[in-house]
Amino acid sequence: MPDFLEAVRCPLCGGALTAVPGGGCLRCASGHSYDLARAGYVNLLPPGKKNNAKTGDERDMIRARSEFLRRGFYDPIDETLASALADHAAGETEKPFRIADLGAGEGYHTCRTAAILAQKLGCPVDALGFDASKAGAEAGCRLAKSLGFLEKDGLAAPPEQWTSPVRAAVLPGNIFRLPLADHGMDAAMSLFAPVPWEEAARILTPGGILAVVSAGREHLVKMRAILYDEVRLTDFHPAPPEDFDKLTLLSRRTVSFPVTLSSQAQIAALFMMTPFYHRTGDAGRERLGALESLAVTAQIELSLWEAAV
Ligand SMILES: C[S@@+](CC[C@H](N)C(=O)[O-])C[C@H]1O[C@@H](n2cnc3c(N)ncnc32)[C@H](O)[C@@H]1O
Ligand SMILES: [Zn+2]
Repeated sequence: MPDFLEAVRCPLCGGALTAVPGGGCLRCASGHSYDLARAGYVNLLPPGKKNNAKTGDERDMIRARSEFLRRGFYDPIDETLASALADHAAGETEKPFRIADLGAGEGYHTCRTAAILAQKLGCPVDALGFDASKAGAEAGCRLAKSLGFLEKDGLAAPPEQWTSPVRAAVLPGNIFRLPLADHGMDAAMSLFAPVPWEEAARILTPGGILAVVSAGREHLVKMRAILYDEVRLTDFHPAPPEDFDKLTLLSRRTVSFPVTLSSQAQIAALFMMTPFYHRTGDAGRERLGALESLAVTAQIELSLWEAAV
């Protein structure tokens, strides 16, 4: 088992997991066991919830998002995120920088952010994404493998066989009960996903950084104007409960970038990725469905939170 998977813990009892010799699974001392899938990941959703479809994104949404992301439309997010994290990280080190992606989807941002971070930091980066969607995790591991970030038999390969300074995997798991050891991660990232503040604070090293990316006030406003008769601009700043003192806000900033869509398929893919997909009526869908091109501005808010020292 590569050392980066030493970071994972049994989601039921928090115990360390070891590979069962010849057994295709990981097991804790209390006997909870987790299958090693051929895709190269281990399913760490608690038993009984292994095919969690309710909180997990549907397969077609994942496909649409992969399709959209691999065209690079949202790449500026990874550059912004990796630069911000690198600015706060300690100097160059031989030890891998460990980052967890909480609600990683199909791992596109997990892999890209890890790759840019490795360049900027000049050290290896180990990235572990978690998502409630098994389909998302499978897609994430496929992507990581295609990039050389996860070996074919990833979970069995000794660390010295890794050729890339970046190792990454996306595992099925619940971010509100993360199967990770206490204080073992240098950073955590949460992109367009629910933020598990308590769990993020638990897994971060003292002084470690949680980076939260959310939709800014004017995110995709032109698309919203097509979908709805009236567009209301509201501020939303993800934040922990008021009396929560395990993470301190370091900075908050807004970044905007253009997204130029040149086909109905691209427009539909972006639409499917947004929360608007679930709340738009027929008239709005029809208006958007009639377009063959659309130039919009994406606006994200990036906030950085430091774990108590
Ligand atoms: C809008 S998507 C964002 C995915 C990815 N971060 C991105 O930006 O492309 C939100 C993700 O959060 C995941 N999610 C929601 N609740 C979750 C939970 N309790 N545990 C794990 N993942 C969860 C969903 O399955 C979905 O993939
Ligand atoms: Zn256990």
